[in-house]
Amino acid sequence: MVGLDIGTSGVRALAVNKAGDVVADSSAEYAILAPRPGWSEQHPEDWWKAVSTVLREVATATDGQVVAIGLAGQMHGSVFLDARDRVIRPALLWNDQRTDRQCRQITETIGRDKLVAITGNPALTGFQAPKVLWLRDEEPAHFKQVAHLLLPKDYIRLQLSHEYATDASDASGTLLLDLRQRGWSQEILNALEIPEQWLPAVYESSMTAGALDPHAAAELGLPAGIPISAGAGDNAAAAVGIGVVEDGLISSSIGSSGVLFANMTKIQPDPSGRLHAFCHAVPGGYHLLGVTLAAGASLRWWRSVLNSEGGYGALSELAATAPPGAEGLIFLPYLTGERTPHLDPFARGAFFGLTSRHGPAHLTRALMEGVVFSLADSLAVMVELGLSIKQIRVIGGGGRSPLWRQIQADVFGIPVYRTVVDEGPAYGAALLAGVSAGLFSSVDEACSVVRLRPEVTEPDERRTQLYKAYFELYRSLYPLTSSVMAGLSHLALDDGLLPPKMDRP
Ligand code: XUL
Repeated sequence: MVGLDIGTSGVRALAVNKAGDVVADSSAEYAILAPRPGWSEQHPEDWWKAVSTVLREVATATDGQVVAIGLAGQMHGSVFLDARDRVIRPALLWNDQRTDRQCRQITETIGRDKLVAITGNPALTGFQAPKVLWLRDEEPAHFKQVAHLLLPKDYIRLQLSHEYATDASDASGTLLLDLRQRGWSQEILNALEIPEQWLPAVYESSMTAGALDPHAAAELGLPAGIPISAGAGDNAAAAVGIGVVEDGLISSSIGSSGVLFANMTKIQPDPSGRLHAFCHAVPGGYHLLGVTLAAGASLRWWRSVLNSEGGYGALSELAATAPPGAEGLIFLPYLTGERTPHLDPFARGAFFGLTSRHGPAHLTRALMEGVVFSLADSLAVMVELGLSIKQIRVIGGGGRSPLWRQIQADVFGIPVYRTVVDEGPAYGAALLAGVSAGLFSSVDEACSVVRLRPEVTEPDERRTQLYKAYFELYRSLYPLTSSVMAGLSHLALDDGLLPPKMDRP
């Protein structure tokens, strides 16, 4: 089975055999465009170019012996297509913050409680529905051309199979899905005047939604007609890939975003909206999600600021030379606004507590700790909601870096586990493909190939106590500074260089 993850910094393809071993692996990067403050875009054609490259590589490495393809991808992105399936403008991504005004309008039109009751979530800037209204308000000529609205991985499905389809987990991130019915909400579509015919059909993640088109197959070196599974949003797919499919299991992922993911067999949205309630990739299942918008993205930003040649491993080693707490330095990772727990597109990042003793090692350590404090904020909301927390499994860069893993164990105050294969979304997508091809009878059976590593990262009691004190101070900073953050965002947008239509905070 081949799992494909259309991520934010690049695409990854994994070929996996029935025993769950990774037999081939390929990845390719692409750029993120930030044409204005708060904007985040990508060219869907860049995703497709990268996908073609990695699929060709995986096809060569496996002699084309592929039985099914599974798709995972960054959630919430809006791909606008015209009637001939041409991309109308670059896609607006999950971390794009331009739609504050449209979110307020959606909340006024539908009502916050009703939105949470139907979709599981309040209107948040990164979600898909407010982006549609933004296009209507700000780019009417583009809006007139729209015939189809797709999520990132589903644009790739269209290239592979000419099928307009999505899955319930990814569809949950549009704000247009009735979470209980696992289908589009007529009430919300009518209220927002979004035509249902723009939207793809919604499937459960392990169902087949498309077959590989003969032309694409010939070009990629893969068998024509193999099934393409509906797949999942990257977080739900990653949860499958590390076996987070029962209550009490939580995953902590540090990729571009940071995500704390809790399986939820029965639907129970967070009334405060700080955690997202979405469908799981397990048929009929749900999950709660706390999101740090700039987790790995904070380290990527820092690496470019430092002009560091050595990559993330070297940065992690540098950070390890500074003591826990970085001698009284706290980093707020709100570089692109923040979702959990603040739901504030105008939040800003900060290093707080700088002294002349602080150097690159301290700042790097504080940054890595700040990202974990932000995940701990999500954990605190989960505890508040009474969720059972039996085990935390770490994935992404935060699982691979020994220091980041240890900081997580210390800050969360409980042991953290890793799976043998911790490729996350692409691996989960491959397992879902296995179910749609009939190699496994269910997602649960597919997850039986997921194995934990014997080594466990235990918290250190002294560091846990120290981090408790730091976390208290970390949490006090946002309420103390949020109006200053909003003021700075206002000034940055008001610099006279931007078109007059740009939203003001
Ligand atoms: C989830 C979210 C991010 C993206 C990143 O709500 O916005 O985790 O899915 O890929």
